[in-house]
Amino acid sequence: MKSSIKLNNNKIMPILGLGTWQSPKGSVGRAVQYALVEANYKHIDCASIYKNEKEIGSALHGVFSKRKIKRSDIFITSKLWNTEHNPKNVEKACKQTLKDLRLDYLDLYLVHWGIAFVHGLLPEPLNVLGLAKTENVPMQDTWGAMENLVKKGLVKSVGVANFTAPMLLDLFTYARIKPAVNQIEIHPYNSQQALVEYCKKMKVAITAYSPLGSTGKIAEKPLSDPTVIRIAHSHKKTPAQVLIRWLLQREIIAIPKSTKTNRIDENSEVFDFALSAKEMKSIYSLNKNKRFVDPSMWWGVPYFQ
Ligand code: A2P
Repeated sequence: MKSSIKLNNNKIMPILGLGTWQSPKGSVGRAVQYALVEANYKHIDCASIYKNEKEIGSALHGVFSKRKIKRSDIFITSKLWNTEHNPKNVEKACKQTLKDLRLDYLDLYLVHWGIAFVHGLLPEPLNVLGLAKTENVPMQDTWGAMENLVKKGLVKSVGVANFTAPMLLDLFTYARIKPAVNQIEIHPYNSQQALVEYCKKMKVAITAYSPLGSTGKIAEKPLSDPTVIRIAHSHKKTPAQVLIRWLLQREIIAIPKSTKTNRIDENSEVFDFALSAKEMKSIYSLNKNKRFVDPSMWWGVPYFQ
């Protein structure tokens, strides 16, 4: 079982990372420190919109300055928020993230969503109809500014998140630097098999966010699925470990989020067992295209349709 994935620019990305979406201030710093120092994580997934990068930055600074962990041994991702797509804002946004995270480069910087919001104080500006207020910035312009970040050495790789196949097809027509990664929601209830296969063929690595079903109701999450529980019992593993292992065996990068030390440990103990082909298949069969993260709920945009 590989512990990392080679990206299309030959950079190496650890296959397991710690997610930080919805990790609150006051606990995210400790979680990041614990993951890196005690639980041997090599990869942290961040984003400016998570509003916790400053605290993560303090933890990273502590880890790199005092704990004998080298910056170059850790892979750190962040994401460009929707209000910053205008090329004149991209470098500024990246530099703010670098400042907050107390880093001089990112390993990976992603366009968080393929939608440009008007630049301003509100992170999610809505009009009277409840629709996101968009700005006329073509993705081509944003992507050009992302490519410049690589040229300037501020980021090692660039990629996208929440991109559908048609959005990728368009991006491929003008990208001089191909996206290294597409980060999308994947778990057994939203297995995204076709998009995963397409990305693999196009040499775009996939990161699965919300691999455990995020903050969905526990009864509705794949963690509570009887098939997942049965398979977990048979391996003397937990449902979370089965969900993560199912991704890693498909060579999908997984970023389970937790701020609890026992779960951070648990979610990393996924390299000492293997799911059989039959078990992989029965987990695939659970797919029902159910998303836990869908912006049509927040921005009035049927984004995935
Ligand atoms: P907590 O942070 O309190 O541990 P996802 O990675 O899909 O976004 O899921 C994150 C959610 O799953 C959070 O609510 C997190 O809660 C919870 N979680 C993380 N690890 C586990 C685990 N091993 N078992 C059960 N729930 C978990």
